[in-house]
Amino acid sequence: MDKLVINGQKILNGIVEISGAKNAVLPVMVATLLAPGKYRISRVPDLRDTHTMLRLLEMIGATSSFENNELLIDTTKASNPEAPYDLVKTMRASFYVLGPLTARFGYAKVSLPGGCAWGPRPVNFHISALEAMGAEIELDEGYVIATADRLKGAKITFDFPSVGATGNAVMAAVLADGETVIQNAACEPEISCLCDFLNAMGAQISGIGSEKLTIEGVDQLNPVDFEIIPDRIEAATFLIAGAMVGDSITLKGANPDHLTAVIEKLQESGQEITTTDDSVLINKLGPIKSIDMTTAVYPGFPTDVQAQWMALMTVSDGTSIITDTVYHDRFTHVSELSRFGAWITMKDNVAVVSGRKTLKGAPVMSTDIRASASLILAGLVAQDRTDISRIYHIDRGYERIEEKLRGLGADIRRESE
Ligand code: EPU
Repeated sequence: MDKLVINGQKILNGIVEISGAKNAVLPVMVATLLAPGKYRISRVPDLRDTHTMLRLLEMIGATSSFENNELLIDTTKASNPEAPYDLVKTMRASFYVLGPLTARFGYAKVSLPGGCAWGPRPVNFHISALEAMGAEIELDEGYVIATADRLKGAKITFDFPSVGATGNAVMAAVLADGETVIQNAACEPEISCLCDFLNAMGAQISGIGSEKLTIEGVDQLNPVDFEIIPDRIEAATFLIAGAMVGDSITLKGANPDHLTAVIEKLQESGQEITTTDDSVLINKLGPIKSIDMTTAVYPGFPTDVQAQWMALMTVSDGTSIITDTVYHDRFTHVSELSRFGAWITMKDNVAVVSGRKTLKGAPVMSTDIRASASLILAGLVAQDRTDISRIYHIDRGYERIEEKLRGLGADIRRESE
């Protein structure tokens, strides 16, 4: 197993290229199952999760080649509509295949994902959306088995605008008979990216980017070439690195429109940020002001940046309150950040962080993708050496993170444990 070793307190400067978005490419890859044929997808991040999804598509019968961030997928022979526990438990996004497999094959057998590192993450909205479209759902030995002759358009209202359930329902609805209306749909850019991909394939989805999606089912879709949007969570992570240990950092190939909430908070905390259509520049101006933050669905502050924001607040000039309203249990990074000497107390889904002048490097352990990012940020700002173990978590969601940080001047390397 690899670990990351960081010698902290190096000042970062320069340009970093932002990769394609993990949470956009995963559903797009799944959507290729909706129409047999060959797809060329560009700007695909080379991540552990991308490879896990490729393994799943291969089990279903697709073939692929993946080089230089360009992915060729051929779903002509995809015919085995099953997703096994071994894969789904390592990557919940595998559950995305439920809708498209049911729509295309009239049958899907997909393992329930189980819990995750920070608590239960149910899939009841995914299942009830498919049931509303006429699928029969059975639960058998940990698997969801969905059957339907042809799915029917339906009116679906989510209790919460779930990203995954919206994606699953949209992928099921594009081939359904008639119109589907999804109310309280997720507005995240990754869902818009998926809808744009499906429309390029010939789907008829309107209201993209809004809370109401209307989908007119079609009989057939066609393979296309497509480019993935930039990863706003990776971009936000580098911006926070800029605020913590930067002089001046430019993110190349980022979409500032997707980063509004994060940019506003960083400006409140005292940083100077300027943007162009496809870049964001952060200049660290001085001490970090302590700023409260509450996560919310898009366009609110992303839960996927909550851990990184907490790392920033550990070295701010006062006390801040961080609340996660999307995932109430997503705080496994708190005890690891405390190992750097950070002062954090927790009650329910609220953390109170008292900023300190400096942190001290320590051996720590990754627990999930974004928690790992927060530990890297803490290691970058801390005195002396930090060793971060179990970094397969970071490899799930950040492409070549240590190389990118080294390019900016960080002292960070990967070692075998
Ligand atoms: N929820 C339910 N029932 C459901 C689905 C969701 O109660 O059937 C609840 C969840 O428990 C949670 C809330 O709804 O409290 C939001 O969950 P959502 O379904 O939106 O999350 P997801 O689709 O499972 C995606 C991202 C996550 C990101 C969340 C929130 C992908 C592959 N994953 O997960 O990304 O945190 O949306 O924005 O897109 C990450 O990249 O590190 C990551 C965890």
